[in-house]
Amino acid sequence: MNKIFRLSIIIIFSLLYTSAALAQEGLGKDSAIFSAVVCPGENCSRSMNISWGAIENTQECYLSLREKESNKIVRNITLKGSEGEICTVFNSVWSKMAGGKNFYENARFLKFGYTFNHLKPATEYYCLISTRYKDGNGVSLTSPLKVLSFKTAGSKEWSCCIISDFHSYPPLPKRLTSAMAMVDTVRSVSVREGREFEWVLHLGDVCAWGGSYSFWKRMYEEKNFSSTMWAGLNGNHDNMTRQYILTNEFFRNATANPRNGYGGEEGVCYWFTYGDVLFVMLNSDNMRKSEDFERAYNWTRKVLKKSRAKFKVVCEHYEWFNGENGKTVQYARWKKLFDECGVDLALAANNHIYVRSRKLFADNVVSDNEKGTVYIQTPSSDNERGEKLFGELSYNKDLIAKRWNEGPKTVGALLMEVTSNSLTLTLLNRKGEREDRVTITK
Ligand SMILES: [Fe+2]
Repeated sequence: MNKIFRLSIIIIFSLLYTSAALAQEGLGKDSAIFSAVVCPGENCSRSMNISWGAIENTQECYLSLREKESNKIVRNITLKGSEGEICTVFNSVWSKMAGGKNFYENARFLKFGYTFNHLKPATEYYCLISTRYKDGNGVSLTSPLKVLSFKTAGSKEWSCCIISDFHSYPPLPKRLTSAMAMVDTVRSVSVREGREFEWVLHLGDVCAWGGSYSFWKRMYEEKNFSSTMWAGLNGNHDNMTRQYILTNEFFRNATANPRNGYGGEEGVCYWFTYGDVLFVMLNSDNMRKSEDFERAYNWTRKVLKKSRAKFKVVCEHYEWFNGENGKTVQYARWKKLFDECGVDLALAANNHIYVRSRKLFADNVVSDNEKGTVYIQTPSSDNERGEKLFGELSYNKDLIAKRWNEGPKTVGALLMEVTSNSLTLTLLNRKGEREDRVTITK
């Protein structure tokens, strides 16, 4: 055997050894059940969706739903392992470990979603989840218990936290820490104002690479993801891998949203009601081409026209206006429909600069008691990927009421407080100080 041949053999074996060792890092060795989170049901007064992943050799999953106040068991559900869908979209995706090493994700697993229907409105619940699975030696084991809490809609007055763009990235864990601290800050402010927020609305880009399952899994370990319902949007970062492979399958398999969207977008585009408010959730990434936009537009029109909700809110990831100079972005595509269908509030993100418009109708500023839409886009919240500070507005000076960011190290989020005739949105900085506020009345 010559020297070069021997060296090649050694290199091949060491590469094989390394990749086998790294492959173990995908789902982690510790967890039989992971990424558990509560997502909205179609009518959040009556239904909620539970989303989780489980290892492939899961035999059974157990859900036990209990009322928080009485501890009473409301429902016990057993699902067979075969009722989960084998999810392979994250498997072998080129990724990065928390320690910075490059690796291919080992992420084949069973994806579960379960809808609890016929719930009581305005009631706090918690759901215990566990599984029975076989280990590598065929021994049957029970997973540790996961506990998820949520409150159903139905309170006369309620509030939620609105956050986006934290680009969770395990090699830079402070991004997630900053965003979670911001959620805690919004919670403290909501408590101080008299009512703890009931759920979190995120407007996308919660993961740096949504194709990296370990990023979702790590993010869902945060306590904020098990203490309330999370309703979310697919952002461009959630929609991509490190190598820029794009698919909304990543977002779909990391959540369990109502499947009431249009063809191919079920569970990614969706709508739900929380009390008297309709939320229409769009997928910006599949609205780039005009024919895709038309499909989204027609579906949104149908949903808005059919709804009898008092307030209508439409959410998409891409911004309405460019925060740096005020130039029109998505506002141009949607304003006519929002005027036609009486959308009260349009929410977006992506730009990393907070922008709030005045109340607008037919491209004009209208007064508070007139029909119109307020357009808001959230700032970033990871203390790292913010935009540079903006200069003077060059466009839409009359339409834009407020802009805010803190430069590249921006952390901010909103508290939305809802009464029977108003939506009040307050932009908070990391200290919980108010940077902006608007009230939309009916
Ligand atoms: Fe972003």
